[in-house]
Amino acid sequence: MQSAPYRLESTWQPDGGPHGRFTFNLFNLSDGPIENFTIVYTSLTRVVDKTACENAVFVKRDANYHEFAPPAGFVLARGVCWTFTVGGLHRKAVHCTDGAKSAYLTLVDGRHVPVSVSDLLLEGRVSGPPPVLLPEGKLDLPFALQPWPRQIDAQPGDGFPVCLYPAPGASMDDLKAVDAIIALFRRLFEADHAPLSLAPNSQGRVLHMKQDATLEPEAYALFFSADDVSLSFGGAAGRQYGLTTLAQLLNGARREPEKFRFPIEGTISDAPRYSWRGCHLDVSRQFYPVADLTRLIDILAWLKLNIFHWHLTDDEAWRLEIKAYPELTTVGVLRSPDGPLLPQLGNGAEPVGGFYSQDDVRTIVEHGLALNVEIVPEIDIPGHNTATLVALRELSDGQEAPESYHSVQGYANNALNPAVPFTYEFLEKVFDELITLFPSPYVHIGGDEVADGSWLVSPLARKLMEKEGISGTFGLQSYFLKQIKAMLTKRGKKLAGWNEVAHGGGVDANGTLLMAWQSPEVGIELAREGYEVVMTPGQAYYLDMVQGEEWQEPGASWAGTVPPAHTYGYEAEGDFPDELKDRLKGVQACIWSEHFLSRGYFNRLVFPRLPAIAEAAWTPKSEKNWQRFSAIVGLSPKL
Ligand code: ACM
Repeated sequence: MQSAPYRLESTWQPDGGPHGRFTFNLFNLSDGPIENFTIVYTSLTRVVDKTACENAVFVKRDANYHEFAPPAGFVLARGVCWTFTVGGLHRKAVHCTDGAKSAYLTLVDGRHVPVSVSDLLLEGRVSGPPPVLLPEGKLDLPFALQPWPRQIDAQPGDGFPVCLYPAPGASMDDLKAVDAIIALFRRLFEADHAPLSLAPNSQGRVLHMKQDATLEPEAYALFFSADDVSLSFGGAAGRQYGLTTLAQLLNGARREPEKFRFPIEGTISDAPRYSWRGCHLDVSRQFYPVADLTRLIDILAWLKLNIFHWHLTDDEAWRLEIKAYPELTTVGVLRSPDGPLLPQLGNGAEPVGGFYSQDDVRTIVEHGLALNVEIVPEIDIPGHNTATLVALRELSDGQEAPESYHSVQGYANNALNPAVPFTYEFLEKVFDELITLFPSPYVHIGGDEVADGSWLVSPLARKLMEKEGISGTFGLQSYFLKQIKAMLTKRGKKLAGWNEVAHGGGVDANGTLLMAWQSPEVGIELAREGYEVVMTPGQAYYLDMVQGEEWQEPGASWAGTVPPAHTYGYEAEGDFPDELKDRLKGVQACIWSEHFLSRGYFNRLVFPRLPAIAEAAWTPKSEKNWQRFSAIVGLSPKL
């Protein structure tokens, strides 16, 4: 990116307020002086005390949008720097990514001009450098497999075949499965030699494939000899995983022959530990083009993950085309200095949008289906709906006082109102369109982080609560979610949600799957209440969390510090009592995008922790080995 004519640098220091203060330096690198301007920056460390600034005047804040003006009459000359401080923060800054993520100026004529920003520097304490997070690792067996299989008893050969090819007479389905893995490999490793071919090759090795009804659909077994390889599989998924294992083995042996080999004798007998092996992606806070999503799905398939949980809506944008309500993806995605949705989370002077058309969705769903990756859509309700409420004003109770409650992210009055009749008409239409697009048996309806106190000053909500004998925000949430559950049941879908769905009375646990994100203990409690559970604890599986304590390590930290070794070692089953273990369906990585402003940042935070979760999802506890994992994970494809 080209440099802007202005640069904002910032430091945080622990003194000057209960949560310290920012010092900002705005450098004017343009050709002339400016005056009567304001500066906007976006920062997840928010200002809550408007008076606690020096040499600047607070103008406005909305979630992480902040606007300040210089003192009256101030002129910022060419080549000069304006210094101002901002205290009154809602929490301390603890990492270099906790400051301004973007900035721009609004000039006196209304034009918005870009400002470059730098990472937040620390003053008054030692600014620790990023730690080493991944050891070199150590292999007991020289095989490049990730996730590691359930059982392996194989001997390495000295060399390796150029490729593996199906035995003559292979079925059309087998040929297509091999073709699909060649194509997957080609997309993931554009410059590497393909491990499989359809035609025989004199330097290759023949591959016999056969279905074995005694194996589970996702299970497979491999038998190696010097002359051939045999693959038995339970179903199409098992065949795909067996072929992926062969492709990984051969790719590793070719890329790092000092370290990895291809088997010449022995067996691999493999099946997944959990049926739900998921990865979530938040496409609301940042938009990811379709090509990024298909690549992520390719990576999931390579790691034998089988669920892509697509978080399509949130306060910051509604990304799914709904033909009944086009405003959702016009007004409801556009963040712009001129509103109504303001820049957040790294947005600058230019308006930003982005959404998925229904044709895009079909592309993603088909891409997933072909690789045994199920796409589970999430429409996050009733909380996290600023974008929806801005796009469709008639969803609000017009008599509710503004700013009557705030979400933990700082959005005011951001929950769909259970007492507004249009809420239900709207959601019925959304679900009608959604179910034509997504074959998954689940629809994820969020249910997270409704602020306590929501709706309590809405006259419509108060009337409903009185009529129905409901008390409190979470009683009302449960009343609402029970109706959502009925809408989904009517459409033949099961309800999935975050763990707070169980609050205030919850919904019928039968056919409901909840994701335990707030802590590992929550998962056990949900299972006790009868819900199916997927473990996604922020303390281990939120890939936006920082990987080291040090200031210079980037990431969010509200759920703690999550080094890759911890993600790898975490055992979802943990303290689950035996009688509840069958309610634990699996585990899932969550990629929340507030901080994800670039591909480089994505790769730095998501890897190697995503492969670590893939191994935890697939490999039995007795076969997990951090040193082996570390030695292999360098081969993993990235976005
Ligand atoms: C969540 O992290 N709000 C599910």
